[in-house]
Amino acid sequence: MARMPLTAPWKTFVRSRRRAASVVLSCLLTLGCSTVPERRPDAGDAGEGSSGAAGGHDGLGGDATHDVAGSSAGGEPAGGGGGGGTGGWVVPADSLRAFTSKSKPGVECIGTAINPGVLESDEAYRAVAGSEFNCAVAEYGMKWDLMEPEQGNFDFSLGDQVVAFAEAHRMRVKGHALVWHGATPDWVLDVTSPSELRAVIRDYVTEVVTHFKGKVEAWDVVNEAIADSGGDFRNTHFYKVLGTEFFEIAFEAARAADPDVELLYNDYGGEDMGVKSDAIYELVKGLKESGVPIDGIGLQSHLTHNGVPADELEANMKRLAALGLSINLSEIDVRMGMATGTLDEKLAQQAKIYRQLASACADQPACTGLFVWGFTDAHSWVDGTFGGTNLPCLFDEDLNRKPAYDGLRAGMTEAAP
Ligand code: XIL
Repeated sequence: MARMPLTAPWKTFVRSRRRAASVVLSCLLTLGCSTVPERRPDAGDAGEGSSGAAGGHDGLGGDATHDVAGSSAGGEPAGGGGGGGTGGWVVPADSLRAFTSKSKPGVECIGTAINPGVLESDEAYRAVAGSEFNCAVAEYGMKWDLMEPEQGNFDFSLGDQVVAFAEAHRMRVKGHALVWHGATPDWVLDVTSPSELRAVIRDYVTEVVTHFKGKVEAWDVVNEAIADSGGDFRNTHFYKVLGTEFFEIAFEAARAADPDVELLYNDYGGEDMGVKSDAIYELVKGLKESGVPIDGIGLQSHLTHNGVPADELEANMKRLAALGLSINLSEIDVRMGMATGTLDEKLAQQAKIYRQLASACADQPACTGLFVWGFTDAHSWVDGTFGGTNLPCLFDEDLNRKPAYDGLRAGMTEAAP
């Protein structure tokens, strides 16, 4: 497959600024540490299955502009495209991806996390994923414990499946996540010698980024390295053995393996202004100033019915953008389990939050896209993780569009209320 165009949204803002900072090896990463247990994946997400769709599409064309079904501009299919077992492919004129061309100044990427198991088994899921979204990320298919369960034994099948589906539907792919405490294989946890762990990280990142070179246009290189309490580094295996050096190792190996791929830091709870977002800001600023090749940041946006104060999100994005980083809202879901009111009231409140997130991204030139962490309440990770009934997604369990869907689409083109 041809290389993704260099004008891809989350490349544009930072490309010219890359490596501008001088290399100050005394890394500015002077946060402390805290003890947080390593997280393990829960069972119900990563399904079985091999690569289904045939691909056959040769990149995305020269820009990221998409248009409505039936239009000659932008290259979106008017229907019947895709193939590869997708059961037909139609991009409705009122779909989210059709609206990317109308967004101001550009939510050019509207993405979803994809669950390979459901992709394999559920035709309706495939139809919505391929018609509504122009970007994709594997929900669990590209994590370390799946891709290298034993040292040197690589299995890319689930990630390849997501990539094949994306190629068949002209979706751009973000890789997620290279170094994450929540998906570290047991054998890596047994590596306690710093020099060995350095080599293990380097080898893994090199192997994976090389495998997906030209197919994945951005990587979450390090995920969730700041502690929940905010001001400290999360006390992961990587941090315990290597201190902050693991950032440099992972980002540099990724850059060496694919000089054109966008390299991101990704975290949650850092959307508003506060202790945690300050720590995240200091981290990425320190990485930039140390010459570590970081290009952008993902703000996960796993929110509750309280949302995030609009002015704080705006201010936070502004300071991150001022560092020369791209920003994507990377794992959006809004859980309503603790909200009061009627169902209609809850869904309206949720719609407001989705709208505000989309609007904040549309208003910030450095914001390159929105990713929802699953699009249907039928398959979200949220209830299993947080408990309760949270209805966190854009589509209900029967794949009907919810008010949240209309809210997000409105936010792409209008200012938030
Ligand atoms: C979650 C998946 O959604 C779950 O299915 C899996 O069991 C655990 O991982 N932050 C992240 C994602 O960066 O990788 C996590 O995904 C959700 C929180």
